[in-house]
Amino acid sequence: MSDIARARAQQVGAAFTEQASDYEGAVRYNLMGAHRLVASIPEGEYDSLLDVGCGTGWSSFEFLARFGPGRVVGLDPAEGMLDVFRGHAERLEDVDVELIQADVMDMPVPGEAFDAVICTMAMHWFADKAGAVREMAARLRPGGILAVLAGGKGVEAEYRELLESLDPPVPERWPKLYDTAPTSEREMLGYLEAAGMEPVDVWIERRWRETPVDEFLERMRVVASHLNDGLSADHVQDLHTRIREEMVARATPRGFGYHFCKLFTVARKPV
Ligand SMILES: C[S@@+](CC[C@H](N)C(=O)[O-])C[C@H]1O[C@@H](n2cnc3c(N)ncnc32)[C@H](O)[C@@H]1O
Repeated sequence: MSDIARARAQQVGAAFTEQASDYEGAVRYNLMGAHRLVASIPEGEYDSLLDVGCGTGWSSFEFLARFGPGRVVGLDPAEGMLDVFRGHAERLEDVDVELIQADVMDMPVPGEAFDAVICTMAMHWFADKAGAVREMAARLRPGGILAVLAGGKGVEAEYRELLESLDPPVPERWPKLYDTAPTSEREMLGYLEAAGMEPVDVWIERRWRETPVDEFLERMRVVASHLNDGLSADHVQDLHTRIREEMVARATPRGFGYHFCKLFTVARKPV
């Protein structure tokens, strides 16, 4: 892992630690996505789970509810997110839970050791997505399942367009995030093939959502606060005020309308 990639992961981890207590309320749609992802995993015996970019752990809990593994390893660079997961895990009985502060490219867990690896809404933070899929695949035993939930191409195109329309312009990296963060089915199929995985199913769910402006902006505050790095508090405040005004101008009585796109991936490691 390069020094740049390590510094970037530390920065993202610190941002998520800061927002950990607000996180679950702000991104409840992701919880529903995690539920549908876990529901799409083929029937089977999965006694050990590795949850990469586990955050506060709700995908692990979805997996536990369906498959009841005896061992769960959650891995995330954000200690604050792991703390919340640790609190939730206290209610578990007869499950060996280990939470590790680490990066996907530097996972201190053995190869071919897990029946399942899941990774929900973390992929867009990985600088090397192909490498991350390869690293996750390497931790699976032959026959094991990889399940990934990620931002899908086309997500929030309307918000991106709004950002690009503002004058004076917002920092270039804000709208540009949408060039690299979401993933298409074809990109994912390429990563799977390079990692020697067999796709079971790869698809994008595309929904139209209308969300109250302040609710939308609260989610942005929680998941994208690292975009503010290097900007003064006044500058951030000014950007938020102008973005909010434009969103309110474009909103219907139900809220700001945008496409909510999620990429779902289920793949198997060949036996
Ligand atoms: C949006 S949260 C998703 C958390 C959880 N999986 C969920 O579905 O709620 C993204 C998580 O990815 C973690 N993350 C960011 N960069 C990472 C990296 N390089 N390796 C592993 N996890 C990373 C963040 O710390 C954060 O907890």
